[in-house]
Amino acid sequence: MGNTIIIFDTAEELAHYFASLLTSLIRKTKPSGTFSWVLSGGNTPKFIFREIASELKDSIEWKRVRVFWGDERCVGPEDNDSNYKMAKENFLDQVNIPPANIFRICGEAAPAGEAERYSLQYSRNVKQVKGIPRCDLLMLGLGEDGHTASIFPPDVQLFSSDKLFETTLHPETKQRRITATGKIINNAKTVVMLATGESKAARVAQILGNPDGSERLPAARVRPEKGEVIWMLDRPASKKLKSKK
Ligand code: 6PG
Repeated sequence: MGNTIIIFDTAEELAHYFASLLTSLIRKTKPSGTFSWVLSGGNTPKFIFREIASELKDSIEWKRVRVFWGDERCVGPEDNDSNYKMAKENFLDQVNIPPANIFRICGEAAPAGEAERYSLQYSRNVKQVKGIPRCDLLMLGLGEDGHTASIFPPDVQLFSSDKLFETTLHPETKQRRITATGKIINNAKTVVMLATGESKAARVAQILGNPDGSERLPAARVRPEKGEVIWMLDRPASKKLKSKK
């Protein structure tokens, strides 16, 4: 399936749309089933998490929702760099999601062993389709270098990994990371690619405008075989798109 591109005038509109999408996707799953949601890290999701915590606190059956992370920095859960800490403070602490439904990547653990442990935990707690876990919703961000999750250029080979999670290194900070691979990303039912701010405009235009020329960018490899990709952009991030609305 192709990309759907939605451009929002304000961050509030984007966050509100995301909350409505989450609500409708959860409602579409069977009432007795669980809903697996893979969270993204970085700063962009913060305002979305806050919107969900305030708007959906009482309207979502949180006991059906299981949250995972698409990547984590190899730091402890109290560290300000932790994607888990960011989600906990901006969202998870404000809703009645059972702690057992929060599947944290233990950034404080030895990276290689944690990537293996988490791969197993993920595969045991996400519905499988043809033997591969298929999450219901996967949030991804876009780095200015074209990375997504913690797959950084030129490591596009991670999109053909036979593992679910692998360890990577941030190219500048040399910070060790644990990241979902293409096996998770391209098996998701719905992927939301979030990009806001002018600093992302060039990459957005390159990836959406010139798929052939952006093959070496990890974010350009997000192409779930049987899933949909919804790009949610604010105006500044969309400014270099040719046929923007
Ligand atoms: C991370 C993220 C990463 C992020 C992008 C965008 O752990 O940092 O998973 O992929 O989504 O770098 O980050 P911003 O939202 O901070 O621009």
